[in-house]
This record gives sequence, structure tokens and C-alpha cells, in this order.
Amino acid sequence: MKQFIETLPKIELHLHIEGTLEPEMMLHLSQKNQIPIPYQNLEEIKRAYRFQNLQSFLDVYYAGASVLCEQEDFFDLTWAYMLQCKENHVIHSEIFFDPQTHIMRGIPISRVVGGITQALKKAKEELGISSVLIACILRHLTQEEGIKALEELIPYKKDIVAIGLDSSEIGNPPSKFRELFARAKEEGFLLVAHAGEEADYTYIQEALELGASRIDHGVQCDKSEELVEFLKIHRIPLTMCPLSNYALKVTPDLTKHNLLELLRKGLCVTINSDDPAYFGGYMNTNFEAVYEALHPTKEEMRQFSLNALEASFLSYEEKEELKRKFFEA
Ligand code: HPA
Ligand code: ZN
Repeated sequence: MKQFIETLPKIELHLHIEGTLEPEMMLHLSQKNQIPIPYQNLEEIKRAYRFQNLQSFLDVYYAGASVLCEQEDFFDLTWAYMLQCKENHVIHSEIFFDPQTHIMRGIPISRVVGGITQALKKAKEELGISSVLIACILRHLTQEEGIKALEELIPYKKDIVAIGLDSSEIGNPPSKFRELFARAKEEGFLLVAHAGEEADYTYIQEALELGASRIDHGVQCDKSEELVEFLKIHRIPLTMCPLSNYALKVTPDLTKHNLLELLRKGLCVTINSDDPAYFGGYMNTNFEAVYEALHPTKEEMRQFSLNALEASFLSYEEKEELKRKFFEA
């Protein structure tokens, strides 16, 4: 099974590029850019990676992201992730970034998008891995601040396919961003949203009402039979992240995770790594953890991957081309 998992073609739909910042790179950039972080060495960084909940993770994640300054930093970060994709047989990735985290520190958006897209182009040319970029709005900030960020993103429309919503969930429901989502849609962006990670299933319903075409996480959907039925009938993809849910205590134990049960009910469930540098592993490790805890069949493992292909923002032709890789494998 381990070998089957390693070579299974994978598509990643829920990955925060700032969440791929490995401790070594964090320390290096902290020194290079002279940005102090509250950790002196690798051990101290790793010790900080014991989280109680989403917020305790976000505090460390934003401290980490503060070391990213130059265009080359964003390039190096993204390139390192694309090399991980190669190793994990990820053939396509849809990558989140948090523009406000950088704009707020005075980093121009051109540097952020420039560095990331440069690495994505190189990955397409040299590694044969395709990708798209999704800009996430920080939900702990106001809608007004989000709209300002959205306006800065408009000139980069050709590089950014969708707008997402992330950060501290409880108390910041999707409905707080009704106008922002409407504006993003008018501008031609697709919409996705983190919902039902820590907060309840009504956040998922709200995200769908606002036009989200995928739900990031969605773990709490099973508290409503009606919602589960809706997600099934409409094939609304759930981009689930097992190791993240375990690290942030969304699930006490992966044997209790609902992702396989939801797959078996016919939902479009996918497996993703979220913030792999913080949660203990990239795609293969997530697939392996699911196998160890829940023992899905090979067919079910393949289905997670095929679901991700179906749920991706690629064109019909691109999907057909990637589908061939499943039968070569
Ligand atoms: N949830 C919310 N915000 C985030 C996450 C997450 O899992 N990762 C990075 N920002
Ligand atoms: Zn996430």
C-alpha cells in the first residue's frame, strides 16, 4: 500500500504556500532579512508546533510568514514546495496565499505574486507540474480591509483564478464577507471558503449561499443530514486535511475522522496537506495517515485523487489529459 500511495498521481486543492515554510528556511530568512522571530533555533521552532486549536497555530504561522520579504523569498518558498510535489507525485496543485499578511507589512503585492508565479512557471516547464493560484482573504479582519486587498488583486487576475477565505473561523462567518464575495464574483473570480473546520455546519451553508464552489475542510457537515445530502447531490467538493485536523484537535484521533464515511456516502471528498511544514507532512504522509487510521481500499484511495481532479479548476481538456496519468500509473 505504501508504494501504491507514493506513486498514485495526486492533485492538491488545499495548500497554503505560507504553510510550507520549513523551520530551516524560516531561520535562514529571519537572519537574512533581519526579522526577529520568537525562536532561536530549530528546536525552539519545533517545540512551538504543539497546537491546542486553530488560533494557537495561526499565531505561529503569522510569526513565521513575517520573514518573507523579497521576491526571491516567495520564489524559493514556492519552488521548495513544487519539489515536494514532484516527490509526492502531485501532478497539479491549487495554491492559496494570504495577500493581506504581506501587504500589511508593507510588502508590495507585485513581489508576492511575482515570486510565486515565477516558481510555478518553472515547475510547469521543468517538472511538468501544473498549478493555479487562489488568494485568500483573512476573515479575522474587516470586510472593508478585505475589499481593499481584493482591489489590489484585480490587476493580477490572469494569475489568480479564485478568491478564498481563511484564518480564525469562529465568530467570522462567511456572511461577514457578503459584499466582498459579490464583488469578487463580478470580477470573474471563482470562490472558495474555509468552512466547518472549527465552526459549525451553518458556516458551510453560508459559504454555499455566497457562491463558493468548493468547501475547504467541511468536517462539521455531518451534523446536518440535509447538508450532507445537498453536498452529495450537487457534488460540492470538500478539500479535507487529515493531519491538519489532528494537529489542531478538530478530530481527537484520525480513526474518528469522517472523511472515509463521507466518501462512502458518495460525497466528493479529497485529501490535502493544508500547512505541511506545520502539521507533519505533505501529500503522501496525509494519504498514509488516512490508510493507517481508516484502511480504505486501493479503489477508495484512487477515488480521493480522482475526486480532486474532478474538483480542480482545470478545463475539461486539461482534466482529460491528466486523467490519462492515472491509467499509465
Ligand atoms: N484554517 C484557517 N486558516 C488557515 C489555515 C486553516 O487550516 N491554514 C492557514 N490559514
Ligand atoms: Zn487551510
